[in-house]
Amino acid sequence: MNSKQQVVDALIPVLPDTMTKDEIEMKIERPKDSDNGDYAFPTFFLAKELHKAPQMIAQELLPQIDQSNFEQVVIAGPYINFFLDKVQVGAAILDEVLTDPANYGSSDLGNGGNVPIDMSSPNIAKPMSMGHLRSTVIGNSLANILTKVNYNPIKINHLGDWGTQFGKLMAAYKMWGSEEEVKADPINTLQKYYVRFHQEDKENPALDDDARAWFKKLEDGDEEATHLWEWFRSESLKLFMKIYDLLGIEFDSFNGEAFYNDKMDEVVKMLEDKNLLQESKGAEIVDLEKYDLNPALIKKTDGATLYITRDLAAAIYRKRTYNFVQSLYVVGNEQQNHFKQLKAVLKEMGFDWSDNIHHIPFGLITQGGRKLSTREGHIILLENVLNDAIELARKQIDEKNPDLPNDDEVAKEVGVGAVVFHDLKNERLNNFDFDLAEVVRFEGETGPYVQYAHARAESILRKAGKPDLNDVNKSITDPNAWKVIKALGQYKDIIQRAAREYEPSVVAKYAIQLSKDFNQYYAHSKILVEDNEKMARLTLVQAVSDVLKSALALLGVKAPDEM
Ligand code: ARG
Repeated sequence: MNSKQQVVDALIPVLPDTMTKDEIEMKIERPKDSDNGDYAFPTFFLAKELHKAPQMIAQELLPQIDQSNFEQVVIAGPYINFFLDKVQVGAAILDEVLTDPANYGSSDLGNGGNVPIDMSSPNIAKPMSMGHLRSTVIGNSLANILTKVNYNPIKINHLGDWGTQFGKLMAAYKMWGSEEEVKADPINTLQKYYVRFHQEDKENPALDDDARAWFKKLEDGDEEATHLWEWFRSESLKLFMKIYDLLGIEFDSFNGEAFYNDKMDEVVKMLEDKNLLQESKGAEIVDLEKYDLNPALIKKTDGATLYITRDLAAAIYRKRTYNFVQSLYVVGNEQQNHFKQLKAVLKEMGFDWSDNIHHIPFGLITQGGRKLSTREGHIILLENVLNDAIELARKQIDEKNPDLPNDDEVAKEVGVGAVVFHDLKNERLNNFDFDLAEVVRFEGETGPYVQYAHARAESILRKAGKPDLNDVNKSITDPNAWKVIKALGQYKDIIQRAAREYEPSVVAKYAIQLSKDFNQYYAHSKILVEDNEKMARLTLVQAVSDVLKSALALLGVKAPDEM
């Protein structure tokens, strides 16, 4: 049941016939201060039609309104304020949650439309960075949130498996590399070569020519280059998969940059046909001055294609393959200009659907205030972060709950969940500093805190013997319960807002608030005391457990029943 609808229903019979249901609904406001009721109806706009002062109108309407469904209806100046009957509304909300917990909060904003989400997309032969972690978990959570409002997300890992960096890597490997060394510890070794290359090419610019030549060989299908590329790629993927397994994240496609190699000629041809390509110092560019952007570099002097060329091919491929309603790119804020260029070139090509391409940027993670950088070798290794988090979680669990049966599994869910939650609770554009001890704390606004609130609810239900709660009367008169129930009632709006703003933090903040409200309720009201509202209280506990679990799932975080 929709409580706003109750207000509309109460108003229809007393307002002039000229007002439609929709018009009435649009006029109804939600007062910021709950002292002014749950809903308010302003009377200003009736003044002209009724030739009366708004205050007068409010006074005349009030006695005609059927108040039986409300706690009270009062006038405040030109407003009629409605206070919902908390017991009745509360029971209806609890009923709705418990009837179909898995679908509670769902809606149909998306009509099933396809939404490719370009996410994670780490670079081969480099360690996956904290930035890629952000892209992975934000993208995954957006996919969950969009599913809940009935879009059909397609999670695409646009692997960085092509580009001039491979030329550098091959050049470096040929100069200093050894097969055994790479086999023993692939990514760290390749990373070491890469860092060394960047140090040495400062003094020896000839190295860059060597790298360019190797990349050209790769683009031309040279056997040795191709073999090295495949080897680097498969070793890297193995390690990336380990991290995705830990996070519990799956992809629908691993079509990375290399996948578009044979699809770029067509793009270049289209650009030529539309007269968009210009020559500039031997390179081919698309001028974007009218967008106030730098020219997009499509082909280098030596004919090598670029990152944006591959992204053009990918965008067109995704439109053809998925006929998307929106196409998202969860990529760091520092690539803002790239995505502006991408959209502008597509626009110039006459593709109106470029308006449905959205870059979903996010801020930087720093450590001790310092920017992380692969080139300088200052990086946080994601796998270490996750494993350290699991260890920290295990320590806390061993202290609090030494007899927990499946503590390995729970430590993993709590440790990994803590890292993921910490990332998502920050508005995505904010930069933040990474401090592992803070991330895994059980108190404060952390993932474990929310997981703990959920586990507490489950423990209450276990103590109560897990009763069947479906046909229970769900009316709760205890005023302490209202705040929690009201929060439960907001879940659908929260998910829709998160979906519209592409902002998982909206869900994370909601989960924290609901946990706080529930803990407060638990501190003030004896839930298991034997009285005639005990069963109703248990329905509230069950609903809190269900919604916290659902909210955590939207973030990609597990909710253990015990911890
Ligand atoms: N591999 C790139 C990087 O690590 C991110 C790719 C993002 N996706 C895209 N379609 N450009 O910077």
